[in-house]
Amino acid sequence: MNRQSYPSLKKVLTETPTDTAERQQLLANPAFGKVFTDHMVTVRHTKADGWVDAKVEARKNFTFSPGTTVLHYGLEIFEGLKAYRQADGGVALFRPDANAKRFANSAKRLALPPLPEELFVESVIALTETDRDWIPEQDFSALYLRPFMIATDATLGLKPADDALYSVIASPVGSYFKGGAAAVSLWVSDHFTRAAPGGTGDAKCGGNYAAAMVAQLEADRQGCDQVVFLDAVERKWVEELGGMNVFFVFDDGSIQTPPLTGTILPGITRDSIIRLALDMGITVREERYSIDQWQQDAKSGRLVEAFACGTAAVVTSIGKVKGNRHEFTVGNGEGGEMTAKLKGALLDIQYGRVADPHGWMIKL
Ligand code: PLP
Ligand code: COI
Repeated sequence: MNRQSYPSLKKVLTETPTDTAERQQLLANPAFGKVFTDHMVTVRHTKADGWVDAKVEARKNFTFSPGTTVLHYGLEIFEGLKAYRQADGGVALFRPDANAKRFANSAKRLALPPLPEELFVESVIALTETDRDWIPEQDFSALYLRPFMIATDATLGLKPADDALYSVIASPVGSYFKGGAAAVSLWVSDHFTRAAPGGTGDAKCGGNYAAAMVAQLEADRQGCDQVVFLDAVERKWVEELGGMNVFFVFDDGSIQTPPLTGTILPGITRDSIIRLALDMGITVREERYSIDQWQQDAKSGRLVEAFACGTAAVVTSIGKVKGNRHEFTVGNGEGGEMTAKLKGALLDIQYGRVADPHGWMIKL
């Protein structure tokens, strides 16, 4: 991408930064996604001028016409990535280039204007640098960055976006699951599906999450933490959770995860776990796994562990699985060695405690 083809980010800092004592109080126990930093990135797109007006500025509310297309037709995509405090006191981002690429794919799928991948990476670096003091220091905490794009044409006409807004906000976060859950329970949704072939399952668009909400309510009613979705065609193959990919660990030391067939999100954590497992000499299969087989293997002991993974959830063991036709416990219900080993290897790289053999960390 030609450097001239996107605007430079201007920094206009807030005149009313959060005072240090208040910030420290907010950072003491940030939970997930409830606290926001002082600044944000905004870049506008118009049909005539392309991407313009790139800024890091004070975080503020948006003002839109009630006719704005995103409000009616859900033309929205987003990303999620983290900046980590490093063991040497520095700060680094994990694989922002991979998020930039996925964002570009999501934009293409929703016919939103393509954002230069370099601008995406520059924008998350610039916001992290600006709000560096907002990166929490506790174990397992980080600054979660949420880049997103919305269509801003003010029309009820159903048409692809000409005008759009790209923005990045940042939120200091701790554990995604309350109390840093040792293992989560899953509800098997055999009625609601998340994505169908030809749909938007492999794009990170708000609509996917909106459509999954009712299934999450069902999981809540059943006393489960998360939903595990099955494929939309045969209602048989395990796909992913509402916001995480899934891995299975077998008694022969191999691991397996559903293949990227277009209906699941190509997780960056998923990809990283696969590479780390291969580095360790672990056999990795990207193959379909049915919910019935999962139950049978959990009961026979062939399956010893299962875990969910994603930027927000990191790596979290799956303890119990329940559905209208299924009910089983995975291993001892609390996770196991393989999950701990892969999680440890990933976190050690992300927090700069070991060398970064794949060049994943972008140091600020
Ligand atoms: N699957 C879904 C539906 C997600 O929302 C996420 C989270 O981003 C993931 C998987 C994991 O993706 P990543 O590891 O890139 O965060
Ligand atoms: C992420 O892990 O970044 C996500 O987008 C998942 C979301 C459910 C918070």
